[in-house]
Amino acid sequence: MKRLFLVTLIVLMIIVGISKGILIGLSMDNLRLERWQKDRDIFVSVAKKLGAKVLVQSANGDDSLQLSQVENMIARGVDVLVVLPHNGKVMGSIVKEAHENGIPVIAYDRLLMDCDVDYYVTFDPIKVGEYQAKYLIEKKPEGNYFLLGGSPTDNNAYLFRKGQMKVLQPYIDSGKIKIVGDQWAKDWLPQEALKIIENALTATKNKIDAIVASNDSTAGGAIEALKEQGLAGKVLVSGQDADLAACQRIVEGLQTMTVYKPIDSIATQAALMAISVANNIKVITNGKVNNNYKDVPTFFLEPIPVDKNNMVETVIKDGFHSIEEVYKNIPKSKWPKIK
Ligand code: GAL
Repeated sequence: MKRLFLVTLIVLMIIVGISKGILIGLSMDNLRLERWQKDRDIFVSVAKKLGAKVLVQSANGDDSLQLSQVENMIARGVDVLVVLPHNGKVMGSIVKEAHENGIPVIAYDRLLMDCDVDYYVTFDPIKVGEYQAKYLIEKKPEGNYFLLGGSPTDNNAYLFRKGQMKVLQPYIDSGKIKIVGDQWAKDWLPQEALKIIENALTATKNKIDAIVASNDSTAGGAIEALKEQGLAGKVLVSGQDADLAACQRIVEGLQTMTVYKPIDSIATQAALMAISVANNIKVITNGKVNNNYKDVPTFFLEPIPVDKNNMVETVIKDGFHSIEEVYKNIPKSKWPKIK
């Protein structure tokens, strides 16, 4: 239904031609991770189909660079800004200047904090965290759990953790699970996660039963550390983003699960919102999130927990990855049948 709605709206916009000549400024924290490259490609392709132009800039994780890139977009007179902040608190400061130049601002996937940002579009981060923890608890309701958080500059990292703790707290209170460590991986870097888990395995003498990793890049680093101790596949590891490497690890039994967030949904939704708001057309939202300044009108999309049992009817059926890519290291005789 949702897809039909989006298609209808796209057709309408094409017919009406309202997006002719719209210039969108898309400011991205980085293009290091596989998912952000997909976000950029799909966003640009949808916006172009609608007749809009997109100015894309990646700050490579550098706050001051991202600030100057956005100031440059404002100076070039973009009609609307879509921002994936490296640091939501730092980038919140650009909204005032954008508004003084008549430019609306949409926060993409990560919220802009302490500012009058116009809209937010994201997959429900708390639900992502709940899915991660729920999956691990169902498999391992007792034992030693390590909390491997995401980047401390990313507001999402705290929301994923909030969702995880909603599930884990009762098991901690009852003594069923013990938290043997809690660290945050700078900039979601796999090498940071590798170091953290190497140290954790040493400190606990390898007594870790589950690692609550908040995304796939850090799950990958954690699994490298487990491999060094011959524990890969024996310790549960969660993830998020359905990166190709993570989907391969899941079907090979090295990673337990991931949370799939169909990027064509968020990128398409964001492009539609950008073109609507640039034309002063009312933007449809389905929720609100407080950013310490106001309740930001938000469009929430549904995340999907994925393991080896539903990989085919989600990630592969959507064409997010092909079966050949995901099952690259599995003998063809063992591939699932695609109905
Ligand atoms: C988060 C995003 C996650 C994950 C992480 C790493 O903000 O919501 O999907 O990719 O960044 O960049």
